[in-house]
Amino acid sequence: MKADELCDRFMQEFHAQPRIFTAPGRVNIIGEHTDYNDGFVLPCAIEFSTRVAISPRVDRKLVLRSTEFSEPFDVDLNSLPRKPVGTWADYVVGVAVILRAAGYAIHGANLLVHGEVPIGAGLSSSAAIEVATALALLSLSDAKPRLQEIAKLCQRAENEFVGAHVGIMDQFVSCLGKAGYALLLDCRSLEFEMVPVPPEVKLVICNTMVKHEHSGGEYNRRREECEKGVRILSTEFPGIRALRDVTHEQLSSCANAMPPMIYKRCLHVVEENQRVLRAVECLRSANLAHMGRVMRESHVSLRDLYEVSCRELDIMVEEAEGLPGFYGGRMTGGGFGGCTVNLVTSSEAEAFRERIAERYLRRTGISSDIYICSPADGAAVAVKLASM
Ligand code: GLA
Repeated sequence: MKADELCDRFMQEFHAQPRIFTAPGRVNIIGEHTDYNDGFVLPCAIEFSTRVAISPRVDRKLVLRSTEFSEPFDVDLNSLPRKPVGTWADYVVGVAVILRAAGYAIHGANLLVHGEVPIGAGLSSSAAIEVATALALLSLSDAKPRLQEIAKLCQRAENEFVGAHVGIMDQFVSCLGKAGYALLLDCRSLEFEMVPVPPEVKLVICNTMVKHEHSGGEYNRRREECEKGVRILSTEFPGIRALRDVTHEQLSSCANAMPPMIYKRCLHVVEENQRVLRAVECLRSANLAHMGRVMRESHVSLRDLYEVSCRELDIMVEEAEGLPGFYGGRMTGGGFGGCTVNLVTSSEAEAFRERIAERYLRRTGISSDIYICSPADGAAVAVKLASM
């Protein structure tokens, strides 16, 4: 839906002229389950995004509507809910709750949300709605926090209100992604660098159509397992605050002091951080064959050490092998379903789309959605446009 169509829908519903804010989903090229371990990630924003149209109200209500979900949701700003109710509106209300807790003035408003990021596919539809909502709500106040700050507030909304203990990656790249570039983020310092993605390749995203759920237990459990690893490692090496600080040698020397499962989780994170830095070198030198190998290694590690893959993701990864123009691929996002990301020569991307869909259908009986993507702009650009 184009911005002017959304504008028309909004005027029919609320009889007022809205301003529209946009934030994209993301695909993570590499660096999985490293963000909440203070490590490195290399995501990029994608062309699927969520738009939030907003107009002010004179009363103290947030009146929330969605173009996809029929249930309306109205809340009184004087008695904002403390808990999620389990609907789409939680992400919007969560952002309002956290912005207010952080000292930003929230005014009564009408909001119409239109999301085009596939839901439950590991492409961060939740970060997209959070960031677009934050920009929309903040546009009615005089506050102009930096985008880095907005990303942190949106992460808090998901952690503290929705209850998914996600890291900072998704919200950060949704805010600060840039067309043509992947974003190398140091999740401890939040320093970042833009790394060009060679134009001769596309990121082909293959949706297994198996939906995942973050607020479900496995994601939060992985976080706890990493924290357990850190507790054990830091008794031996007191300087260690997060798995980011751990070397291979330090981890090996503690192998007997920790349960094998905790060791495997830690090993994945330590090696995945190194893989991100290797991948950046590969992109910079346009060594795509090596980049593909690093992506494959990441998948194997997520499957065998971190244990967040699933049969369908593994099949999608296996079936890409041998297709023309394919350099490498892996599961992307939290796992347990969702998508794979594949590095494919641009001129072969269309043929790859068809062949992988056929192969996956043959093995699983499931028709998949395949998206041919290039790194897109984050919400920053939309903010500029909206304030012009
Ligand atoms: C989800 C979370 C991110 C990150 C990934 C795994 O997408 O939202 O913060 O932890 O999983 O890399």
